[in-house]
Amino acid sequence: MCGIVGYVGHRSALDVVIGGLRRLEYRGYDSAGVAVLDGDGGLAVERKAGRLGNLEQQLDAVGRDAFAGSAGMGHTRWATHGPPVDRNSHPHRDTSGKVAVVHNGIIENFATLRAELEAAGIELASDTDTETAAHLIALEYAEGPTAGDFPASVRAVCRRLEGAFTLVVAHADHPDVIVAARRSSPLVVGVGEGEYFVASDVAAFIEHTREAVELGQDQVVEISRDGYRVTDFAGEPAEGKPFTVNWDLSAAEKGGHDYFMLKEIDEQPEALANTLRGHFSGGRIVLDEQRLTDQDLRDVDKVFVVACGTAYHSGLVAKYAIEHWCRLPVEVELASEFRYRDPVLDRDTLVVAISQSGETADTLEAVRHAREQKARVLAICNTNGAQIPRESDAVLYTHAGPEIGVAATKTFLAQIAANYLVGLALAQARGTKYPDEVAREFAELEAAPAAVRKVLGTVDQVREIGRRFAQSKAVLFLGRHVGYPVALEGALKLKELAYMHAEGFAAGELKHGPIALIEQDLPVVVVMPSPKGRGVLHAKLVSNISEIQARGARTIVIAEEGDEAVRPFADELIEIPAMPTLLQPLVATVPLQVLAAEIARQRGFDIDKPRNLAKSVTVE
Ligand code: F6R
Repeated sequence: MCGIVGYVGHRSALDVVIGGLRRLEYRGYDSAGVAVLDGDGGLAVERKAGRLGNLEQQLDAVGRDAFAGSAGMGHTRWATHGPPVDRNSHPHRDTSGKVAVVHNGIIENFATLRAELEAAGIELASDTDTETAAHLIALEYAEGPTAGDFPASVRAVCRRLEGAFTLVVAHADHPDVIVAARRSSPLVVGVGEGEYFVASDVAAFIEHTREAVELGQDQVVEISRDGYRVTDFAGEPAEGKPFTVNWDLSAAEKGGHDYFMLKEIDEQPEALANTLRGHFSGGRIVLDEQRLTDQDLRDVDKVFVVACGTAYHSGLVAKYAIEHWCRLPVEVELASEFRYRDPVLDRDTLVVAISQSGETADTLEAVRHAREQKARVLAICNTNGAQIPRESDAVLYTHAGPEIGVAATKTFLAQIAANYLVGLALAQARGTKYPDEVAREFAELEAAPAAVRKVLGTVDQVREIGRRFAQSKAVLFLGRHVGYPVALEGALKLKELAYMHAEGFAAGELKHGPIALIEQDLPVVVVMPSPKGRGVLHAKLVSNISEIQARGARTIVIAEEGDEAVRPFADELIEIPAMPTLLQPLVATVPLQVLAAEIARQRGFDIDKPRNLAKSVTVE
């Protein structure tokens, strides 16, 4: 949601900024804009609703010469206040046109600020909360206690803003400086040679530098060609956290695939292996920034998993594993519901917050609520230093690498693997599993990347099935036990990518209502449990399939290799390698991702950027 890039250096700011915005496109947006300081007191701004291509056309139409400076900034907006039209696109300017601001987040007290500006006779040109910041900074700079001091004016305004925000500000009187501020929303500084960047995500500058600095809460940074300076909102010197990005440009490119999502599906074996690497050492499970002691884990009497969307589905899988291995009650809750229903939490509650971006507002608020209630929070996250891990007691990073396709794929598998690690760490600390059992479970997990690689060998067959069913009106997904979250995830992928009606059900629920939906030729995807491990469930699912087949549905069955009992009931059969029961989602999900992607492609949609969706959802 909202991408931000700022640059001061020796290259064309316009090229750097547009290149950076391209790399942030995955976050989701509906308009874009740029501002460039020409060095002679000029500040050129252009913005346009729609894709970046529209902005580029507009720049060509007005002439790019007007944008020939080496300091500037850009923005991709995901509409919150006001529709996605040109006048609401960022950057926003003050009345004089000297101050330009781009913004991510929500200024919660914007109605009061807007009223104050209107009372002072300032006419606002947009519906946005952002524009208020541009006028306030200009006023502060003109007549505030620190008049004429650009960074101080930004700090003064930040102190008045409520909510979560990242601001990047340019001032025509300061053509060699860009000032950026951060509260809760993400902001990183890129450190090059004689050039500096600010961005919502390192992907924006990864082709120029891998050296970065993560800004802390309520910090302001000024970048110039000579360096960067960090202060807090009061102007006291402060420090960001330097880090080196451990992936490079190739990880953020398609590498021969038509879509990022297809590349990311393919990368799942590595994502899993990287997530597991280093977590079993000296005969024990070790978690990353584990600020929870074994005693803390022993004290836990209840686990809540909070997450949204795909991450929530990974949490549903965690429930089966943690309850089985640790004999601990686990509740899995949509983060957006969690804090509004007054859950029973105390210091012996462990809250596991799962979020690939680490920015999701619903999950972040759930974490804050849990910590206020004294619960301990463990974050599972794919983004180094993001807000959710920063505000948690402990963090376990998934090392899936950057996920650019909006629909989560490799991060889902990595989250499931991380959940298993948490389950095993709890079992180990609480003694519900002997060390040799923990070692055995980990060894089984370590075999999963090879199994996923094997499933990827079925891609052509699954795509062919996708082509056959691409014009269906709806698809149902059924599963039992850990196959149920897989069914939910399969349905979500199809909805978001192919804009098709898709529903996931616990197969046992079929007879309690959904069976009424079954009609001639309706495709029904069934995730079969192993005929070995959970034989009872297998038999039950076979009878569920026969019921739906008898009513004319077309069955697409995901089943373990050699599962002969289900073959007669499968109109289409996709075989997956045998796995221990709890680990089956790691292989069973993959064909469903491929199926959704293929159906969406057949229907002519851009699978990397599904409509209305953002990669990181920073509003509640
Ligand atoms: C679906 C998808 C979303 C996210 C959800 C949570 O493909 O990507 O459902 O899973 O918005 O996002 P994170 O994990 O960043 O908190």
